[in-house]
Amino acid sequence: MRILFLTHSFNSLTQRLYVEIIRQGHDVSIEFDINDDVAVEAVRLYRPDLIVAPYLRRAIPAAIWQHHVCLVVHPGIVGDRGPSVLDWAILNGKAEWGVTVLQANAEMDAGPVWASVNFPMRPARKSSLYRNEVTEAAVTAVLQAIGRFEAGGFVPPPADEIRSHVNGKWQPLMTQSDRRIDWQADDTRTVLQKIHAADGFPGVEDEIFGMACHLYDACADDRLRGAPGEIVARRHGAICRATRDGAVWIGHVKQIVPGEKSFKLPASLVLRDKLGGVPEAPLPLDVGPERQTYRDIGYREKRGVGYLHFDFYNGAMNADQCRRLREAYLEIRQRPTRVIVLMGGPDFWSNGIHLNSIEAADSAADESWRNINAMDDLAQAIITTDSQLTIAALRGNTAAGGVFLALAADRLYARAGVVLNPHYKNMGNLYGSEYWTYLLPRRAGMARGREIMSNRLPLGAAEAKQAGLIDDCFDGNADEFMARIESEAEALARDPDFTTLIDAKCKQRAADESAKPLETYRAEELEHMKLNFYGFDPSYHVARYNFVFKVPHSWTPLHLARHRQRIRNTGRSDAPALTALSEARTPAPAAG
Ligand code: COA
Repeated sequence: MRILFLTHSFNSLTQRLYVEIIRQGHDVSIEFDINDDVAVEAVRLYRPDLIVAPYLRRAIPAAIWQHHVCLVVHPGIVGDRGPSVLDWAILNGKAEWGVTVLQANAEMDAGPVWASVNFPMRPARKSSLYRNEVTEAAVTAVLQAIGRFEAGGFVPPPADEIRSHVNGKWQPLMTQSDRRIDWQADDTRTVLQKIHAADGFPGVEDEIFGMACHLYDACADDRLRGAPGEIVARRHGAICRATRDGAVWIGHVKQIVPGEKSFKLPASLVLRDKLGGVPEAPLPLDVGPERQTYRDIGYREKRGVGYLHFDFYNGAMNADQCRRLREAYLEIRQRPTRVIVLMGGPDFWSNGIHLNSIEAADSAADESWRNINAMDDLAQAIITTDSQLTIAALRGNTAAGGVFLALAADRLYARAGVVLNPHYKNMGNLYGSEYWTYLLPRRAGMARGREIMSNRLPLGAAEAKQAGLIDDCFDGNADEFMARIESEAEALARDPDFTTLIDAKCKQRAADESAKPLETYRAEELEHMKLNFYGFDPSYHVARYNFVFKVPHSWTPLHLARHRQRIRNTGRSDAPALTALSEARTPAPAAG
C-alpha cells in the first residue's frame, strides 16, 4: 500500500513507525503538517491508500478525512480525549495507560477505534514513557490497524462501545497552575510526578534564587535533606532542592525571559552566578543503583565484565561530559576485566555533540570545536583499548556522532526497537568526525557507507544489522535486553579463545595504524569540521539555531516527501511549480 504520514515532525515515534511499516513492504512518504492547503496537496500528489498521523498538533482538515481513512495515533486509553493525556496519567499516578489508533472525523480524538494497546505505567519522565512504552504500544496498534485496513471488512467501533476495565474521558489542557510545585507542602513523590509529567515539554514553571525558569530532568535523592525549597547541593550540571520529606535533583532548566526565546541547559550553567554557597556533592563512580541520587556516569562490575553507564539528558554530550566520560573510561580500562560494555543511557545511547551547550557559548564555533575534539578524544580511547574487548549496548536510539562513537567499540548490539540515524547531514551538512571515515567503511564497506551517510534516513536495528553497522539486535523489553547483553558479555569474557581474540584485535589495529594513522583520519575530518564551524557557509550554525530554538518547519525536506521527489523527477509540466512550493519557505503557524 501507499501510506502517507501526516505529522508535525519526524520525531522518534514517527521514525520508528516509518522503519516498521517499510519493513512490512509498504511504500511510505511523509508530509509535515504545516497548513491545510499543503496537506491537501500532499494527498493529491501521493494518492495514498491510507493516511497515518503519528504525531499531530492540529486537527486533520475535513477535505482529507472525508475522502480518506486517516489513522491518528493517540497516546491515551480508549475513550480518553484531550491535549494533555499522558501528562494527566502521570500526575494522577495511573497504574495502566495506553495508545489508541482512531479514525479522524469531525470531533478531536473521538473517531472510531481501529486498535488499542495498554501498558503498565512506570514512575518516569513523560518523554521516557513516550520513547519506550508509548512507542512500543503505538507500533503494535498501528500495525494491527494497517492489517485490518488492508484485509478489508473491519468496521471500527466507536470508543463508547468498547468495554474495558480502564475508561478514558475528556481531560482539559494541563496548565502551569495544575503543574505548580508547592515546595513547602509537596512531598518528593508529588514533586517528581509534577516534573516528570512536564518533561521534555513544557517543563514546570518555578523560581530558583529569584530566577524564573522551567524545570526538567528530575530524580530523587535518598540522603540529602534541607529546609523545603532550599538548594542543598550541586553535582556536575545538576542542583539538588529539598522537599518537605527529602530532596530532588534538577538536571536541566530553561530560563524564562519575558519576550525572549530560550532553551534548556544544565541547571548549574544557567544558575552559575547564584550557586556560590551551594556545596558540591561528589559521588564515586561505582556507587550502585540502590543509592537513589543524580548520576550521569556510573560504573558497575559483574563476573569479569565492566558496565559503563552514561545517561546524558537527551543523549547530548558536551565537552565537559565527554572529558569526564573519557576519564572514567581510562580509569576502568585499568581494571582487571576482560570486557567493557558501553551502556549509554536507557532512552538514548548518544546523540553526539551538545547543540544547546554550543548555542549558549560565547563563541559557538569555538565551543563546537572543543566539543568535537572531546568526542574524538573519547572515541580514540575506545578504539585504542588493547586490554579488553568492548561492546556498545544500544538500549535507546542513537544519532549522528553518537552512532560513530558506538562504532568505536569492537561489537555493537542493539535492542530491536532502537532507531539509528547514522548521518550528520541533517545538521546543516555537517561533515562529522569521531573517526567515522575509519570506522564506517571498516564495518559497512565504502559504497554502503557512502549510501548510509547520504540518504539521511533512520535505520531500524534490523536494517542496521543488514547494513553491517551493528553485529546483532535482540527482541524484548529493557530488562530482557540487559539480560541478553550480560550473557553475551560474560560469554565473551569466559571465551577460551579470549587471548587469541585480543591478539587479533591488537594486530588488526597495528596494521590499520601503519596503513593510515588514526591521527590522519582525525586531522582530515577536522579540516572539514573547521570549515563547518569557521567557514563562510553558515549552514551548520543556522541548522543548529533552528534545532535548539525549535523553529517550526516551513516545508518538508524532499528526502522525506517522496511524493514531491517524484514530481521533480518526472519533469511533468506542473513539476517546477510543485517543487518550488515544497521548497518555498512558507510561514508556519505557531506550534501548539
Ligand atoms: N544536542 C542537544 N539536544 C539534543 C541533541 C543534541 N545533539 N539531540 C537531541 N537533542 C534534544 C532535542 O532538542 C529534544 O529536546 P527536548 O527535550 O527539548 O524536546 C530532545 O533531545 C529529543 O529530541 P527529539 O528531536 O525530539 O527526539 P527525537 O527522538 O524525536 O529525534 C534525533 C531524535 C536524534 C533524530 C534528533 O534529536 C536529532 O536530529 N538530534 C541532533 C543530532 C545531531 O545532529 N547531533 C549533532 C551532530 S554530532
